[in-house]
Amino acid sequence: MRRLGGKPKEGRGISRAAAAILMFALFLISAAALEAYRCAHGFITVRYRIGSEKLTAPVRVAMLSDLHESEFGPGNADLIEAVRGLSPDLILCVGDMASRGATERDLEVPVHLLRELCRIAPVYVSPGNHEADYVKVKGVGVYRAYERAGAVLLDRRFEDLVINGQRIRLGGIFGYCFPYGQSSEAFAASSAGRFLSSFEDTDSFKLLMCHKPTDYCLESEKEYFLDPDVDLVLSGHTHGGLWRLPFVGTPFLPQQGFFPKLDHGQKQVGGAVMIIGAGLGHKSLLFRLFDPCELVLIELAPIE
Ligand SMILES: [Fe+2]
Repeated sequence: MRRLGGKPKEGRGISRAAAAILMFALFLISAAALEAYRCAHGFITVRYRIGSEKLTAPVRVAMLSDLHESEFGPGNADLIEAVRGLSPDLILCVGDMASRGATERDLEVPVHLLRELCRIAPVYVSPGNHEADYVKVKGVGVYRAYERAGAVLLDRRFEDLVINGQRIRLGGIFGYCFPYGQSSEAFAASSAGRFLSSFEDTDSFKLLMCHKPTDYCLESEKEYFLDPDVDLVLSGHTHGGLWRLPFVGTPFLPQQGFFPKLDHGQKQVGGAVMIIGAGLGHKSLLFRLFDPCELVLIELAPIE
């Protein structure tokens, strides 16, 4: 005979709660997997506008970083078309376009991209840590390949450009911009120190490519920060944090620790504005989460 009423069976209650938790966990995992897939199969264009009293007309700068031989469409056709659509005056590649272990065949990806980008606007490249590591093992072939593609390599060098009538000093550096593990005098006499002091010495708009944001200013070594006289610093390297959690941000980055300040986007670092691109690499085993690949457009503009 069926019993009516009475206490609900406890075991069935628990199993329902467990099922609900399991369903919710499955939902989260599925959403994360979909998001990771989206981040690995496309890119977004992120735009910034930087005003300066030094400018009287706009200058459009496209920034790419951390490609790591990734492709968007055959031969990077989608990426090339997107850059062309931005009508940039200048294209800047801020390091790690190739990986440290790149083969000759791998190098064809960034080299082909650079060659095509050079048909759109002048292209300048500054080294990343991967290119620096590549050079240590295999020599400067990677840099020569970039140059043969038509790009100009800037490592502890600058060029004075005139674009749309605007005077821009464009420099590139890989390495610390402050005395790290050395005296102030030793840094001032080093190639980095000498580059920075001559780079600062102009009234032009000063744009510095510096692959690692922590090479420009490392929070844990902030007492050594020199606050160079620079208008805009462009960086990459962080890949946008890789896992950028909603309402939380980037939980952790090597060298910066938990909840890093220089992970992604526009920052104020001393007197300079810094823009940290999320990069375009999607081949890493460490997949991206809520952190799509980025093509960056920066419009330098007069202050109205
Ligand atoms: Fe890097």
